[in-house]
Amino acid sequence: MLNFYYKKNSLFVEKIPVKRIAEIVKTPFYVYSSREIIDNFLSYKKSFFNKKHLICYAVKANSNLYILSMLARLGAGADIVSGGELLKALKAGIPANKIVYSGVGKTQEEIELAIKKRILMFNIESEQEFELILKKSRDLGIKTNISFRVNPDVDPKTHPYISTGLKDNKFGISIEESLRLYNNANGKKFINISGISCHIGSQLLDLAPIKDAAVIIRDIVKKLEADGIKLKFIDLGGGLGIKYNEESPPSHLDHVQTILDVMNDMPQTIIIEPGRAIVGNAGALITKILYVKKHHDKTFYIVDAAMNDLIRPSIYKSYHDIVPLNRKNNENEFINADIVGPICESGDYLAKERKMPILKQGDYLAVLSAGAYGFSMSSNYNSRPRAAEILVRKYFIKTIRRHENFSDIINCEKQFL
Ligand code: LLP
Repeated sequence: MLNFYYKKNSLFVEKIPVKRIAEIVKTPFYVYSSREIIDNFLSYKKSFFNKKHLICYAVKANSNLYILSMLARLGAGADIVSGGELLKALKAGIPANKIVYSGVGKTQEEIELAIKKRILMFNIESEQEFELILKKSRDLGIKTNISFRVNPDVDPKTHPYISTGLKDNKFGISIEESLRLYNNANGKKFINISGISCHIGSQLLDLAPIKDAAVIIRDIVKKLEADGIKLKFIDLGGGLGIKYNEESPPSHLDHVQTILDVMNDMPQTIIIEPGRAIVGNAGALITKILYVKKHHDKTFYIVDAAMNDLIRPSIYKSYHDIVPLNRKNNENEFINADIVGPICESGDYLAKERKMPILKQGDYLAVLSAGAYGFSMSSNYNSRPRAAEILVRKYFIKTIRRHENFSDIINCEKQFL
């Protein structure tokens, strides 16, 4: 979070005190540093030196159109998992030939759409999906680029909900099965075997599993070569972790070097699919304390952001640093507080038993490292309009998604009259 820092006890994003934004934008809202997003992308790019590569940003982490178009300008490709993400990526200016499509449950309509758009490749996750893609390509008379997503069965040592490369997970195809499927796909008129892919999990803090997976993938590529199947792309997924609390994640350079050490002698273009590592630390959720409530021996800071705005603490018990927009000079008195939202569920919290400064009604807080899987996982639960998204560039702010209003909430519904 290099671009979020305190100056004279006031939290800044780039060159602006966040409080100044909170005075004109209704809370809760997300605020992003464009500098941080750009720097994160460029640091990945530079890490490849002159090795042929493509960075396919994982759209699910933050799919705001403005952010996607910024990344498109920098040359990013996209890793998508739905027809909606495909259309958003294209609208943002990411060319179809830089888009890879992962996901275990692609529907017939989504497959048709992606075939017609001629994406870089489908990362296929089952034999039935392959058959459907083959049939649709034949029907449409289009030769479709494919890869199989291999499940290498390595333990990524992360939260079980976000680990994807173990054999018990629903993702990918086993090594043996993939060899059979590649040989089956080989020579089919409407199929172009372009690559191989794998993604083992998210918020990875250890590079060893990434290396293990890369070795497995390299060995498969070599086996396929011996069978006369030549690939153009090796896609090793995303997954690099970020610092939320005390973690010390590997650098982008170390991540890429770990991959390149294994892939050194391979002629293929290397694809990675980072999401969190690009946008995670570039965003914060800004919220206001509605009430301070003391209940037996507990203190609750009841804020205007809730689990519908940021669901990660509720579902993964994940930690986000929460800091005041204005620190006080004599801040040596702390209390343990639960920071909770207005939603009618006990699971609606942003932090529990958190050491916090003594704050009062009307004070503002920033929930840090919320740029990835923050807004993109938000909902209208409790008929709450979703938060606005604000992008900062130096001294300038731009609303890149307005607050939802009541009509946004009821727009898709009908009333019994
Ligand atoms: N590629 C594929 C195929 C993926 O499934 C994912 C994430 C990524 C790339 C990007 O992973 P990243 O670089 O962002 O770690 N909602 C959870 C994270 C779910 C990740 C799902 N897949 C969270 O809030 O932590």
